[in-house]
Amino acid sequence: MTVVGCCVEPVPVLSSPPKFATDSMRNDRRVFTKSLTAGVAGVWVTSDRWTSLGLVPAVAAAQTVALKDVVPKGWLIGVAINQNQSDGRDAVAVELVSRQFNAITPENLLKFQSLHPEPDRFTFDAQDRYVAFGLDRGMAVIGHTLVWHSQTPGWVWSGTDGGLADRATMLERMHTHIATVVGRYKGKIRGWDVVNEALNEDGTLRDSPWRRGIGDDYIAKAFEFAREADPEAELYYNDYNLATKPAKRAGAIRIIKELQQHGIRIDAVGEQGHWRLQSPTTTEIDEAITELRATGVKVMITELDVNLLPTVAAPRPALSTGTPQRRSLEPASPAANPYVNGLPDDVQQALARYYADAFRVFLRHRDAITRVTFWGVSDGDSWLNRGRMNHPLLWDRQRHPKPAFDEVTRVLMAR
Ligand code: XIL
Repeated sequence: MTVVGCCVEPVPVLSSPPKFATDSMRNDRRVFTKSLTAGVAGVWVTSDRWTSLGLVPAVAAAQTVALKDVVPKGWLIGVAINQNQSDGRDAVAVELVSRQFNAITPENLLKFQSLHPEPDRFTFDAQDRYVAFGLDRGMAVIGHTLVWHSQTPGWVWSGTDGGLADRATMLERMHTHIATVVGRYKGKIRGWDVVNEALNEDGTLRDSPWRRGIGDDYIAKAFEFAREADPEAELYYNDYNLATKPAKRAGAIRIIKELQQHGIRIDAVGEQGHWRLQSPTTTEIDEAITELRATGVKVMITELDVNLLPTVAAPRPALSTGTPQRRSLEPASPAANPYVNGLPDDVQQALARYYADAFRVFLRHRDAITRVTFWGVSDGDSWLNRGRMNHPLLWDRQRHPKPAFDEVTRVLMAR
């Protein structure tokens, strides 16, 4: 009998633990990696110290080195999980997440439209299971996100005349939402992305319905309401392109400083980290972290993935009024979707190098960084597929660790 994975040679299933580990194997990292990968596929594997282990297939995946065991003390290493995962249906992912990570973020469940679809109706069932998933495993449970212009139902901003609600009404709705949700998970959710994506690319405040209805202080109000609902929870400002766009980063720094000047609690700033091989460079990542940490708040990489596909002109989604994010898509052209049959080795290696370089920068700032979270478990789970075949994460579609996983763990272990 043989086990055939996507990226490994057929490997014979052994009926007893291998007694060998030759010198050449010991020195050959690829052989080592292959044996780990084969382990995930359900055969005997050798541990990183080359002690022979007998494993049943179901727990074989648990024997690879775990990210959470090799990050600096005090760091959280997290992953965004979807409802199939927090509900336990995706058992392979559940095992991988439990073994590798010490923090979780809900990919969609704690967004306004999931939690509070109508003024007088909150939905908490799946959300409670998500929180329990993390607490049962001793993980830090992250809340994402309270105030955002996207994935928020239209009623939140609507006035009686069909126009925008007035300031008092919108503030009242924001308060009810935050008090109810943050209050429910008081002492259970470690920290909240209180405000998400409030900035334009030039660093000015986005013309979000929240801002139009309440005014610029909607950000401060959201942080105050969150503090009031759970004084112990950490509170974060989260946005993208803070590493690639200095002007946008300056906007984030302005937001942080204004909160601080008003004595309003903010614990950390999150750069989402939706990156590409070409951008940001390590220099840009380093500059961004250096500037953000100078505000005195902690820095987190909150939604890390590396998009490998070419940029294609896509129709802009309408400003969300609760409409689903996924649009029906034309089949992508081969040029727009080059990796349908897998990732060529040179790109696989480039991805591994990019992740390794990024983590080297994170380690240089290890005292300012408190969490690095990947946006999805494996390539097949990623939001970046959207009708194409992307490969942005550390595990492939078969949930086998990629060279990028090996490189990241190598960098973390060598520190
Ligand atoms: C994405 C989810 O991954 C998708 O499943 C959903 O359809 C749209 O939102 N920035 C954020 C995240 O803060 O909430 C987004 O998540 C990705 C971009």
